[in-house]
Amino acid sequence: MRVDGRVVLITGASEGIGAACAGAFARRGARLALTARSREKLEQAGGSEALIVAGDLTREAVRRQVVDATLARYGTIDILVNNAGVGLYTAAWRASPEAARRMFELNFFALLELTQRVVPHMQRQRGGAIVNVGSIAGKVAFPWLTLYCATKYAVGALGDGLRMELRPYNIQVTTVCPGHVETGFGAHALEGGLPERIRRASKFSITAEQCAEAIVKGVERGARTVMTPRVGWLLVALHRLLPSLVDSQMARLYHAAEPPV
Ligand SMILES: NC(=O)c1ccc[n+]([C@@H]2O[C@H](COP(=O)([O-])OP(=O)(O)OC[C@H]3O[C@@H](n4cnc5c(N)ncnc54)[C@H](OP(=O)(O)O)[C@@H]3O)[C@@H](O)[C@H]2O)c1
Repeated sequence: MRVDGRVVLITGASEGIGAACAGAFARRGARLALTARSREKLEQAGGSEALIVAGDLTREAVRRQVVDATLARYGTIDILVNNAGVGLYTAAWRASPEAARRMFELNFFALLELTQRVVPHMQRQRGGAIVNVGSIAGKVAFPWLTLYCATKYAVGALGDGLRMELRPYNIQVTTVCPGHVETGFGAHALEGGLPERIRRASKFSITAEQCAEAIVKGVERGARTVMTPRVGWLLVALHRLLPSLVDSQMARLYHAAEPPV
């Protein structure tokens, strides 16, 4: 899909990958609608032209407002980038149910509801693109992020099914699977933090700008999956071929960093 002139709604656009996506789509001539909680940061990311809708996407009223305001301003939505997300670094067996629910509400249910609100417009115009920012953690489970992985596995499964559902309407569905991206994601986690030893083991970090560029190129070529950096496919392949080996290595790394109590 060509991006110039298209209306792109991006969630979580106030910083990190979402803000970088705003820049990458704008440079290609797209028209932007940006949402997140911080109005000030959204204004910095979008410049004077973008439509800004500030609000908490865990609230249904905000999800409705974002889509309605975008349609009121531009009359259409061509590309929905479901990017807003948050992490949780507590072991699944002792994480607070409230934090787990809040994370699912943002990472999965906000994404689902925005998709449900936008798809009928795309069906009427016989085309569009849904871009769901999942994670490599939606293909391989990491024990320091188990519940987060569950949200991203859900995002991946949703995208795979939706792609088939929406094929007759010429609506492409892309799942983005970043590895480690240098953003404030770790600091914004609802609980806990990435153990230092594991942080040091992340050899393949990319910048938010590199991630955004991969996302826009993925939309342009109608990609099913955007794995960024691509070396992530190696881990996915290893996990498919030798799951027990990957489990034991990952468990060893995790328990060395977070000794069992
Ligand atoms: N960084 C990584 O290593 C990495 C790797 C794989 C996948 N991802 C995924 O990439 C996406 C973006 O992450 P990031 O690294 O750019 O993280 P980030 O820098 O923490 O940005 C998260 C964005 O989501 C917004 N957000 C958070 N809670 C929100 C809420 N309740 N309502 C509305 N907006 C909310 C934040 O804005 P406000 O605070 O202004 O609301 C911010 O714009 C996430 O889905 C994440 O899971 C990240």
